[in-house]
Amino acid sequence: MKCIQLVNENPVILASRNDYYWVSFVFSKLFALKDKILSLNVGLKSVPKTILGIDISSSAIKLIEMESNHGGYKVVSYGVSPLPPGAVIDREIIDIEATAKVLKIVYQDSNASSLKAAVAVSGSSVISNFIDVPRALSEKQLEARVELEAGAIIPFNLDEVNLDFAVVGQNPLSKDELRVQVVACQRDYVDQRKEVIKLAGLQPVVVDVESFAFARAYKELIKTDAAESRQHDNTNSRSMGYDPEEVVAVIDIGASVFTFVVISQAMVVYSLEQPFGGKQLTEDIQRRYNLSWAEAGKAKRKGGLDSDYVETMLGPFKGLLIQHIKRSIQVFYSSTEIKKIDRLMLSGGVSKVVGLPDEISKAVDIPAEIVDLLKNITLSSQVSRSRLLSDTPAMMLAFGLALSKGHKW
Ligand SMILES: Nc1ncnc2c1ncn2[C@@H]1O[C@H](COP(=O)(O)OP(=O)(O)OP(=O)(O)O)[C@@H](O)[C@H]1O
Ligand SMILES: [Mg+2]
Repeated sequence: MKCIQLVNENPVILASRNDYYWVSFVFSKLFALKDKILSLNVGLKSVPKTILGIDISSSAIKLIEMESNHGGYKVVSYGVSPLPPGAVIDREIIDIEATAKVLKIVYQDSNASSLKAAVAVSGSSVISNFIDVPRALSEKQLEARVELEAGAIIPFNLDEVNLDFAVVGQNPLSKDELRVQVVACQRDYVDQRKEVIKLAGLQPVVVDVESFAFARAYKELIKTDAAESRQHDNTNSRSMGYDPEEVVAVIDIGASVFTFVVISQAMVVYSLEQPFGGKQLTEDIQRRYNLSWAEAGKAKRKGGLDSDYVETMLGPFKGLLIQHIKRSIQVFYSSTEIKKIDRLMLSGGVSKVVGLPDEISKAVDIPAEIVDLLKNITLSSQVSRSRLLSDTPAMMLAFGLALSKGHKW
């Protein structure tokens, strides 16, 4: 059984993405890699047909199940259900049982068929770093090399992390060397997610990193105009749904987390998370108009607040959001060689604020649009297009996770 793949893809924390086997990648120490893999092997004998992408976010649980369909994808089931306030705070699952209960309901209501689940970790619980190694190393030698260097490049106690690595390309300064991405996640965070999945009666088979899942959803599901014209001009180009020459920033603005992921040449080259989101505005509305949490959330989405709401509350909120975006772009430019982001793709519930893409685009002078994840995929008859369409900007992570099955970068 092949445990570590030398393929050009991003690492997954729990499971490697082998086309024929799904192998658990949970291990406590790198030097115990082989034994741990064998002892914790998820042990699936065949490729699961579909995998549930499950986003355990701060405000809700979101589930997507997709199957391959004539070279594309078909959504076979989906579900969203709000979490009780305080069940998940800043990506930490505070109430595991309450979270699992909601997941169980989402799963049952969605009529999903698979039991296999992919979830994600992110933020300060995840550290990723790169090492360059001689191209000629065998798999075993590469494992040994990562084992040697992990302590120096991962600022966590290796006894307390789950760790994975993958070759992601070549060292730009030396064609004789490969660039290897090493990713570590604090084990508590991985275990919380696995426990929720298991309590809900499902099987955790992949624990991915959020930024990788966003990038995967972008790459697999979004066909940009630039990609179409490039493919048209170049008949030898690989058939792909996106343009690898474009530098794209996916900006997800959720209830409490602002995520900024830059993708270039099919790789996540930068990612940043900040504690900012729509919850702030909901809380302000609640205080100002003396409304319950649910009433404030509904008023924000459906309107009906005083006429000065837009000027006194929504306007300043959008101003803050634009500041976050500007600062993220500046920090990105100052920390990499890349000097131009070509396109901003907005996701997350907050991206639905009317007129937001245009305002952002004007403020930063980069074209901005809301992700259209359904543009190139079909839906099974049990999935309502209009309902899913209204939820999709907030489902990008779940889509990316649902695509983690055997995905090759
Ligand atoms: N039409 C809308 N206008 C303004 N805000 C909206 C609209 N629809 C949803 N939101 C806000 O989007 C937020 C929820 O977005 P989303 O579902 O992406 O968050 P989340 O994934 O649960 O949170 P996070 O990723 O931050 O943990 C809420 O604050 C909600 O009020
Ligand atoms: Mg989210």
